[in-house]
Amino acid sequence: MTERKLSMKIDILTLFPEAFAPLKTSILGRAEEAGKLEFNIVNIRDFSKDKHKKCDDYPFGGGAGMLMTVQPLFDAIKSVYDESCQIIFPSPVGQVLTAKKAEQLSKHTHLIFVCGHYEGVDERIFQLFPIQQISIGDYVLTGGELPTMVIVDALARFVDGVIAKESLENESFSNGLLEYPQYTRPQVFEGICVPEVLVSGNHAEVDKWRQQQSLQRTKASRSDLLQ
Ligand code: ADE
Repeated sequence: MTERKLSMKIDILTLFPEAFAPLKTSILGRAEEAGKLEFNIVNIRDFSKDKHKKCDDYPFGGGAGMLMTVQPLFDAIKSVYDESCQIIFPSPVGQVLTAKKAEQLSKHTHLIFVCGHYEGVDERIFQLFPIQQISIGDYVLTGGELPTMVIVDALARFVDGVIAKESLENESFSNGLLEYPQYTRPQVFEGICVPEVLVSGNHAEVDKWRQQQSLQRTKASRSDLLQ
């Protein structure tokens, strides 16, 4: 029988559960089928005590747009919370996600993602629970659903059994550099040949070439990584 040891439970609290269909596909879908990851998508609206299941309201003090109200969020988090979990709220206010951060998050066994929407959430939720805010970059998206999927995808790759360990080794950022260029068959396409060294069979030369390419690429587009 194949081993089925759950590595991580991920609860995702959202007003838009249908946005998470992509988690069922490809590598993440297979990781869930193999019992390595478990996704639990929770509709925050189910927890609203408002008779119309309302989950948003106008901001005190005025301003554009609506905020998510604290009660449905509080009860939704309480329904999945345990002492060992880490709660994450994707937001441009948080620290920007890096490969290192994704790897740190992958060490948890239970993560809860809370997806904001509209203009944001009532700030009191951050006093009621220990919540880590994480940004996926210096721009603003319409909600926390896409950033949640980005963070989940980035960290899941580091969870045991989700992808082969060797696949993590030569990735961009794994050694502080960007990944070298790669090629597959055919050897010639539209007159463009694969670099000769890659078909030479000389592994030491291949390694040297890849190292040089990584460095060259990093210098050209992300020289900040070399500082
Ligand atoms: N929500 C809206 N914009 C975001 C961003 N840049 N990162 C994370 N969450 C967000």
